[in-house]
Amino acid sequence: MNITTTLKDNFKMQLGSFYVEVWGCQMNVYDGGRIKDLLTAAGFAQVNSPKDADIVVLVTCAVRAKAEDKVFNQIASWRHTGDINDDTIIALGGCVGSELAEQILELDKSVNIIFGPRTIHRLPQMIGQFTATGKPVVDVTADAIDKFDYMPESGPVGPSAFVTIMEGCSNKCTYCIVPYTRGEEQSRPVQDILDECVNHISNGVLEIHLLGQNVNSYHGLNPDGTVCNFSSLLYEIAAIPGVERIRFTTSNPMDFTDDIIKAVHDLDVISDSIHVPIQSGSDRILHAMHRRYTAKQYINLVKKLREARPTVHISSDFIVGFPGETDEDFEETMKVVNEVKFDQSFSFVYSIRPGTPAAKLEDPVPKEVKMQRLYRLQNRLEELASEYTQSFLGTTQRCLVEGTSRKDESELKSRSSSGRIVVFKGPLSLVGKMVDVKITSVIAHTLKGELV
Ligand code: SAH
Ligand code: SF4
Ligand code: F3S
Repeated sequence: MNITTTLKDNFKMQLGSFYVEVWGCQMNVYDGGRIKDLLTAAGFAQVNSPKDADIVVLVTCAVRAKAEDKVFNQIASWRHTGDINDDTIIALGGCVGSELAEQILELDKSVNIIFGPRTIHRLPQMIGQFTATGKPVVDVTADAIDKFDYMPESGPVGPSAFVTIMEGCSNKCTYCIVPYTRGEEQSRPVQDILDECVNHISNGVLEIHLLGQNVNSYHGLNPDGTVCNFSSLLYEIAAIPGVERIRFTTSNPMDFTDDIIKAVHDLDVISDSIHVPIQSGSDRILHAMHRRYTAKQYINLVKKLREARPTVHISSDFIVGFPGETDEDFEETMKVVNEVKFDQSFSFVYSIRPGTPAAKLEDPVPKEVKMQRLYRLQNRLEELASEYTQSFLGTTQRCLVEGTSRKDESELKSRSSSGRIVVFKGPLSLVGKMVDVKITSVIAHTLKGELV
């Protein structure tokens, strides 16, 4: 299907300019990129500020209350500064779109179009419908992943590309809104993913970053109708000529099976940094969260990963102050942190999400206690990450050059396998290439070095 022509034929409007703002996780960043591709192919012109745009597209996150508030605050702020006005078409999508759907029209009357993570491909038609009728358009359907079938091929994106391999999540961790905003877990067919990777490689990409809420449980169909699991997909992608590095986010510990650990051992192209969120170190809390593994099982997984790849860096997400978390539960978390020695990790205070099972639980722990726990956890995580950063001094790191350094244009900015930013002096011609850099100094978490 020639998408461009079909979409253009469908429009009875003069195509305008659009601006896309993205919040939230990497899956939203991927969706934001695809929306740009889609609207550009449909004949709209991308601009870099809401002020210059006829259509402002907001790709939102609902994972915590604060994340959700951001979009409404941003619209109000743009209105206040005059960056948007009554003529600006506002299309609100992503996870807040599907979480709140029609309610948004009550919350903010300036919103015209509401879409969800799985309806981004219908955005051009929704814009057309709104301009034709002047009436708000809402489509947050989340029962299929046909969005991937309607995307034009992506153009050059730089040396690293996100590739979503699955949508949604069926784990229903009790605190989490994602299964309700992105729908049940569905995997893309293998060939679609491989085609997307090959297209990126032909556009100069060296690093493929696979995305999903639970990549380890990937179960897409092979062309012959058999099911492909995540480890087989890793081998297939690693075999594409030109793939120099593979990252994947996010792994759920319960699905990190031995065949995936073997792939980490076998495939040098898999990066050293592996993000496997534990959330809590207390089995009681893990059970209440419906995480389906124990702290001991998690520690065992890390041990196996380190045996398979001694240079691996494990990072995690943590939630502190889950309803009913006691001091003892929190100490269990600290114990696991000290045992595993996580690298650069994320930690958050529990945020109540309407409609999730945990929202019904009693939560007697005072906010100040939760904040103190978060502070202690973050301090320890920072210490551990700093120790890892320091440990790179004197080593040689294989780095992917992403561009010039923001602070000093005469320096190049690159990324090591462990995910550290590495800056060094070198010619611009190295951008988009893999190079070896000897680390000579460390500033915060940034490594500085010399080209080998
Ligand atoms: N699929 C991933 C997580 C995606 S959400 C996984 O299972 O690991 C990203 C992170 O947000 C989670 O790992 C969790 O730490 C945090 N998070 C999710 N819901 C939250 C909530 N209600 N309150 C605080 N943090 C939350
Ligand atoms: Fe949320 Fe759990 Fe699914 Fe992760 S695995 S997206 S935390 S429900
Ligand atoms: Fe946020 Fe949705 Fe991602 S809630 S974290 S944008 S899946």
